[in-house]
Amino acid sequence: MIFSRALFSLLALQICAVNAFPAYQSLAGLTREELDVVIPTLKFVPPPSPPGPLADDSTKLVNDAAHPFIAPRSSDQRGPCPALNTLASHGYLSRNGIVSPVEVINAVQEAFNLENSFARFLVYSTFLVNGNPITNLMSIGAKTSDTGPNPPPPATVAGLNTHNNCEGDTSMTRADFFFGNNHDFNETRFQNVAKISNQFGAGKYNLTVAAKLREFLFKDSLMNNPTFSMVSPRLFTAFAESVFPINFFVDGRDKSGQLDMDVARGFFQKMTFPPDFHRHDGAISSEGMDVVFNNFPIVPGANQGRVNSYKPDPTSATLSEPCTRYSNFVERNIKSLYPNPTGVLREALSINLQFLFEATVAAGDACTQVFPFGR
Ligand code: HEM
Repeated sequence: MIFSRALFSLLALQICAVNAFPAYQSLAGLTREELDVVIPTLKFVPPPSPPGPLADDSTKLVNDAAHPFIAPRSSDQRGPCPALNTLASHGYLSRNGIVSPVEVINAVQEAFNLENSFARFLVYSTFLVNGNPITNLMSIGAKTSDTGPNPPPPATVAGLNTHNNCEGDTSMTRADFFFGNNHDFNETRFQNVAKISNQFGAGKYNLTVAAKLREFLFKDSLMNNPTFSMVSPRLFTAFAESVFPINFFVDGRDKSGQLDMDVARGFFQKMTFPPDFHRHDGAISSEGMDVVFNNFPIVPGANQGRVNSYKPDPTSATLSEPCTRYSNFVERNIKSLYPNPTGVLREALSINLQFLFEATVAAGDACTQVFPFGR
């Protein structure tokens, strides 16, 4: 008997779907039409619930023998987040950079001590716009067929490099999307970090430096990037990322809050822990973000197609409006990618949306749940 290619692939996928990390290469050659036939018939395995907080969140050695640094191969995905890149290069995440939400939550908790509700919100919001809900896989870098057959457009399933889903302007060590490469390490921008650390931190990156650098980065994008945008969710991540290097990249036994530039380069460029690195002592998230914001408070907004034309956007959430951030993100960002999902796609999205909402509950935000695809 001769199987058609689509049927063969469907069987392969059904078999794989009961395993944790299926190999989807057999589907790579299928056309859009063939995929549309296959995807709705998949034996869907619901994504597992996210893990809770660590039982023991004290500091410990994380650059250990079980997690050696191995430089990525050319086929491995790496992207704009220095933490996820490092976790993949040390084997806390799949070394090929293709990850599931639960895998990321476990890794950022275990190796960096990222607080549970914060980790869950970050991961599910990112996954819902950049990951593949059907296969439960996401690239930490570029779009790739390694995350499996994609749901139909306008969904993009394009990995963390995707501009203006989670990735955005004013990064510390990556250029704005407008300038061509928003995900690879950029030496010129790192030199700005080093320069401002010399000016305000005696050569170390600390909270004072973080505030001055963020002000510099905003003004730099304002004056040079006609497409500069600083609306939610980027508003939140920009300020949070300013303090992440202090909270997570300083060794957990060191309480000084001062990040050495060689260690910083190790994470941002080389994607590696320093030798003997211990994680933060106790779960932590964006502590210190208020100091950075109060130094240079900005209202959400964007340039209007030319430099220095910043216009406030009153519809964007501000930093004190986490529930507007949540509901706008669901109703605008996610809905624009998935206007009318059906079948297992709708089911997968609804489960991940539930996990996202539960993260807001765990964070104590008291938001009203929104159901973009009905209950
Ligand atoms: C302890 C955990 C984490 C740390 C310490 C961390 C750290 C950082 C830092 C410092 C940046 C800014 C890079 C720069 O401006 O040059 C960044 C960017 C980014 N991170 Fe992470 N991150 C963590 C977890 C995550 C998670 C869980 C996700 C999503 C699954 C994520 C997604 C991103 C993305 C999309 C960017 C690009 C944002 C941009 O600058 O445009 N990160 N991360």
